[in-house]
Amino acid sequence: MALIEQIEKENLPKHIAITMDGNGRWAEKKGKFRVFGHQNGVKAVRGTVETAAEIGIKYLTLYAFSTENWNRSEREVNALMSLLISTINKETKTLMKNDIRLLAIGNLQQLPKKCLKELEEAIEKTKNNKRMTLILALSYSGRWEIVNAVNKILKEKNSKKELTEETFQQYLNTKSVPDPELLIRTSGEKRISNFLLWQIAYCELYFTDTLWPDFRKEDLINAIIDYQKRERRFGKS
Ligand code: IPE
Ligand code: IPE
Ligand code: MG
Repeated sequence: MALIEQIEKENLPKHIAITMDGNGRWAEKKGKFRVFGHQNGVKAVRGTVETAAEIGIKYLTLYAFSTENWNRSEREVNALMSLLISTINKETKTLMKNDIRLLAIGNLQQLPKKCLKELEEAIEKTKNNKRMTLILALSYSGRWEIVNAVNKILKEKNSKKELTEETFQQYLNTKSVPDPELLIRTSGEKRISNFLLWQIAYCELYFTDTLWPDFRKEDLINAIIDYQKRERRFGKS
């Protein structure tokens, strides 16, 4: 039986989040600059987006750049931003063809103007697409998102009534998106690195040693099959 057929269609995670880690190590192992790893990481993004849509995943969030990543060398940050601009520009057509809607979360105002413009154009162009929603986490940090939500609430004049979890969620960047059921992190690191702190309260975690540029269709399928074998108890006995 083909690997993809082992996925139970009726038990798919609706939302998968991925921390795409290991680009730098992948390049260094080959004796190349880190940027070479990021370039090859884009290929893995393309394949993963296509596979997720093909499987029937409704939401896919990719951690592409964290707030903390601004602390990398200027050379690496600039290369990542240029790569982001060219990728969004090139891939919008593919998103349209595959009926995929693009969203972005994070402190987007920190992005270079050109990058933000490309992003906003792609979001606008793809806004009516229905098959899958692709969410890019850019200049993102979970703590920033939570504090940002609290600040928005504080600014509202009639915020006297008590807040519920449901209302609070409406102030997060992910307000229109269900919480992820599965979080995948590549490259063998077993940490959260400030990703979706509120949203992963009951998420299943999947770690693989595969470095992001090597992440293929089979890796995504294996993660989903592993998820489907788990018993999700939500505190019940
Ligand atoms: C992930 O790969 C990509 C980004 C964080 C932008 P890294 O660049 O973190 O690669 P490693 O972890 O150094 O190998
Ligand atoms: C997390 O990876 C952020 C992204 C993948 C975009 P990092 O490589 O930045 O995380 P740490 O530094 O290992 O925690
Ligand atoms: Mg890393």
